[in-house]
Amino acid sequence: DAADRGEFRHFMAKEIHEQPRAVAETLEARVSEQRVLPQAFGPEATAVLSKTQRIQIVACGTSFHAGMVARYWFESLAGLPCDIEVASEFRYRPHVVADGTLFVTLSQSGETADTLAALREAKQMGYLATLAICNVPESSLVRESDLAMMTRAGPEIGVASTKAFVTQLVALMITVIAAGRFHALPESMERRLVEALRHLPRQIEEVLSLEPQIKTLAEQFIDKHHSLFLGRGMQYPIAMEGALKLKEISYIHAEAYPAGELKHGPLALVDSEMPVIAVAPNDDLVEKLRSNLHEVQARGGRLIIFADHAVPFEQDQDTHVIVIPPIDDLISPILYTVPLQLLAYHVAVLKGTDVDQPRNLAKSVTVE
Ligand code: G6P
Repeated sequence: DAADRGEFRHFMAKEIHEQPRAVAETLEARVSEQRVLPQAFGPEATAVLSKTQRIQIVACGTSFHAGMVARYWFESLAGLPCDIEVASEFRYRPHVVADGTLFVTLSQSGETADTLAALREAKQMGYLATLAICNVPESSLVRESDLAMMTRAGPEIGVASTKAFVTQLVALMITVIAAGRFHALPESMERRLVEALRHLPRQIEEVLSLEPQIKTLAEQFIDKHHSLFLGRGMQYPIAMEGALKLKEISYIHAEAYPAGELKHGPLALVDSEMPVIAVAPNDDLVEKLRSNLHEVQARGGRLIIFADHAVPFEQDQDTHVIVIPPIDDLISPILYTVPLQLLAYHVAVLKGTDVDQPRNLAKSVTVE
């Protein structure tokens, strides 16, 4: 066990640091310099994608957050309407299935009981086809789906998912491009996205080098009981994922909100005892986010902002800014996940929790 962890104290740390390689492997033989290769999806899958008119995503936990990012991508890049639901809800309500809907499950393990049950239900419901995006090739989910795309994260041991999530996002973007070709995605956009994906391993390395700074920030959380994560647009699911990581392994209550909703409730909670963490890449919504964060500052809140270098935020004793290297805003959710993983990890280490096996949680929930 200790040998498998190599130089790292926990599997989670090892898996966070494996992400550049995991992303490179997920891209391997699926993209050329600027295009998604035909072999990324075989002929059968390509035929299905060409007929796809809508997407329904179903997943649980961290995998659900990957699906929420993909919803933005399917709609804004591919022009395909996309719905997403947690599997435990999906499986227990009637659905209206529109013609040409592709049913997509996301799962690290491929054995999550609710996701598998949702797939089995879906197969009776008239979907065009079923696609599993999964990290375990021999899993039930892959075996029972018509089509599969593997994330190549390698075995993930830490209960809190890290590299599986990041590689799911990469696999989803490849899927969005492959489906988008038959719909609204121009070739120039495909080239831009593929190029951005190819730079990602190096950019993740750069974010990993911010670890000492993030470790220092983690000290602010030791005596805290609540925290709030904010993001807008595609970063909202990343805020959700950051909050989930923190609560899972540090046991600090963490909630995520789309920053525009602050005024409808959570502002009432803001004080110096509840750290507010924001993700601020250089996207269309960053000025809106900035004014939301002013509202937090005006109420004496303590802010930690992960921001693009081109989006200056003023630091003072209540506002800490960690500058994230520049990245194409369309894939920025993938990169901004990493500092939030590191933050959760270091808070948990300081609190002395069982990082790899947090209380009451399981790596794979195979019973309902
Ligand atoms: C459990 C794990 C999570 C995971 C979720 C879904 O709750 O602790 O890390 O995100 O199951 O698992 P899956 O294998 O379907 O992605």
